Amino acid sequence: MYYYLEPMTEADIEPVQQVELACFKTPWSASTYRRELRNRDIHRYLVARTSHALPPSRPPESLQRWGRLISSLIVGFFLDEQQTVDATNRPDPIIGYGGLSLVIDEGHITMIAVEPLYRGAGIGELLLNG
Ligand SMILES: CC(C)(COP(=O)(O)OP(=O)(O)OC[C@H]1O[C@@H](n2cnc3c(N)ncnc32)[C@H](O)[C@@H]1OP(=O)(O)O)[C@@H](O)C(=O)NCCC(=O)NCCS
Repeated sequence: MYYYLEPMTEADIEPVQQVELACFKTPWSASTYRRELRNRDIHRYLVARTSHALPPSRPPESLQRWGRLISSLIVGFFLDEQQTVDATNRPDPIIGYGGLSLVIDEGHITMIAVEPLYRGAGIGELLLNG
């Protein structure tokens, strides 16, 4: 089983909310996520996915867009910005997510969560490093 990170997109909001429902009593609304995702100057969000197959590596230009902080995260596997798909054309399942707000030279983690079944396997740490 492989775990990897990629930037959260608006297409991920619904599966992220499913994970969130399993983790928190009061989940964020879809519009709150959309607002955060559209303000990339301040907010950065990642999702953790699980895959049975080794994911393809992320193209260099996408790595550059995410900057050195993210590209240094070699414990995960980066994927193409388009959703990674399995043989049935479905994206790999989201099992965790996290994000932060950037304030001058500090990052404030606004959210981090891992699906209960997958906890204790280092995915929280992977997200934190991301
Ligand atoms: C917190 C959370 C994301 C950790 O995810 P995870 O995948 O289980 O974390 P990891 O397996 O990477 O564990 C990393 C370390 O953090 C520790 N840890 C995990 N959850 C912890 C918690 N709630 N309090 C203190 N330490 C915790 C683990 O024991 C582990 O330490 P170890 O390596 O010394 O054993 C997960 O427990 C979760 O989703 N909790 C509910 C949501 C939540 O409370 N989020 C934080 C507020 S936004």
